[in-house]
Amino acid sequence: MKKVEDYIRTIADFPHEGIMFRDVTTLFADPRGFRMAIDQLLHPYAGVRFDKVVGLEARGFILGGAVAHQLSAGFVPIRKKGKLPGRVISESYTLEYGEAVVEVHDDALQAGEKVLVVDDLLATGGTAEAGIKLCERLGAEVIGCAFIVDLPDLGGRAKLESLGMEVHALCA
Ligand code: PRP
Ligand code: ADE
Repeated sequence: MKKVEDYIRTIADFPHEGIMFRDVTTLFADPRGFRMAIDQLLHPYAGVRFDKVVGLEARGFILGGAVAHQLSAGFVPIRKKGKLPGRVISESYTLEYGEAVVEVHDDALQAGEKVLVVDDLLATGGTAEAGIKLCERLGAEVIGCAFIVDLPDLGGRAKLESLGMEVHALCA
């Protein structure tokens, strides 16, 4: 039987020379692959109650919406700077290939809410760390972080675990 990783392709030199880009659009496009990925993302959280799923732009939105529906939780987007219309709080971070700022609406999470952070891929962990900080600044409790792909050589898992986070990933 095909595994989640079998649906993901790697494209060399995108978006810059030297980056081996893990393209999950081929996973999302396959009905069996997509269902398998959502089921496996949820697996460690059986019986856990979440108030909100937080998705990181952009591919975390595709996963996060499906995961939130399955958990009967709300969905909150963390977006790149300048995209959200209401009042926001911001965090800047460095990426495998650049620098960025992410934002969340300042009323999107309430103090004490239990949150699952979702994205397609963990590389340096900069994006996820910034997302977790935004959740925590709003008083929410991040119970877990779930990814399709973990690139452990880039240090993201170690970074998040050093913050006390539980990291769940489906493949390397
Ligand atoms: C990718 C990926 C993660 C992030 C991981 O998104 O979807 O969000 O990089 O990298 P990190 O662990 O080093 O922070 P990207 O920044 O390419 O944005 P996009 O999804 O909007 O294209
Ligand atoms: N984000 C950061 N590094 C990445 C990679 N190698 N593939 C896909 N998304 C990424």
